[in-house]
Amino acid sequence: MALTINPLSDALGAEVVGLDTRSEISKADLEQLNHAFLEHHLLCIRSVPLSAPEFARVTRNFGEPQLQLLRDQRTGEAPEVSILESTYKTPEAKPDDLTMVRLSGWHTDDSYFEVPAKATALQGLAIPSSGGQTRFSNTRRAYDELPDAMREKIDRRQAIHAYDTRRATARARALNDEELNETKEVVHPLVRTHEDSGKRAIYFNPNRTDRVVDMDPAESDGLLDALHEWITKRDYQYHHEWTVGDILLWDNRCLVHSVNVDFPVGEERRHQRILLKGTRPV
Ligand SMILES: [Fe+2]
Repeated sequence: MALTINPLSDALGAEVVGLDTRSEISKADLEQLNHAFLEHHLLCIRSVPLSAPEFARVTRNFGEPQLQLLRDQRTGEAPEVSILESTYKTPEAKPDDLTMVRLSGWHTDDSYFEVPAKATALQGLAIPSSGGQTRFSNTRRAYDELPDAMREKIDRRQAIHAYDTRRATARARALNDEELNETKEVVHPLVRTHEDSGKRAIYFNPNRTDRVVDMDPAESDGLLDALHEWITKRDYQYHHEWTVGDILLWDNRCLVHSVNVDFPVGEERRHQRILLKGTRPV
């Protein structure tokens, strides 16, 4: 069966129908998928749920997997596959103020590393009956449409990223010593050039970007606040309604994402995830 690729929104994303994720992907199909990935920044491959090794096999077509930081989320069967469980197991686990749930904060995966993951693959294994959408926003388009004055302000600037920042509303999970050792502060450009497309995008992680280098703290906060508002304009967003088995593959170099954490207590929400190795942002 031939592949069909359908755009999911005006902002970003395309759906892939007709790919048998349990067989090898042909060279021609892979070329079509890679092309669509660069054009749309996010692919939703409609699939049945896969075992961790099967999911790893499919994802390896798109890049080299890396181990994720948090040890206790790694699976035994395929170490590059992490299980992310976001179920509210008790009523107390779901705060009244949902901004206190870390997942609800906009971010790009892994930017606290010198060499962050270029892409993330996430498959839905258990999906609640309402809420729980993953929202994406297109920071390449946000850069293209920046007012000149703001573009000049950020074009050659760098920013400090860290495992956590006082700027994020909710705190990141505590790390063990080994994990702490792997997460020193790092510096990234505020605008990065995509190594495959050559296009520029705002590279800012509201959950992890702490401050702009060589800028007065109040001015830095003001600039980052304005950027945060700009990159998450509704026009740049696509909200994904999960179906069990969906595999989302997205480009962390030009998208940010967050989760609508308003879903019912006691309903399971679980995904498996693989991060794909990237290059140092420039
Ligand atoms: Fe994420």
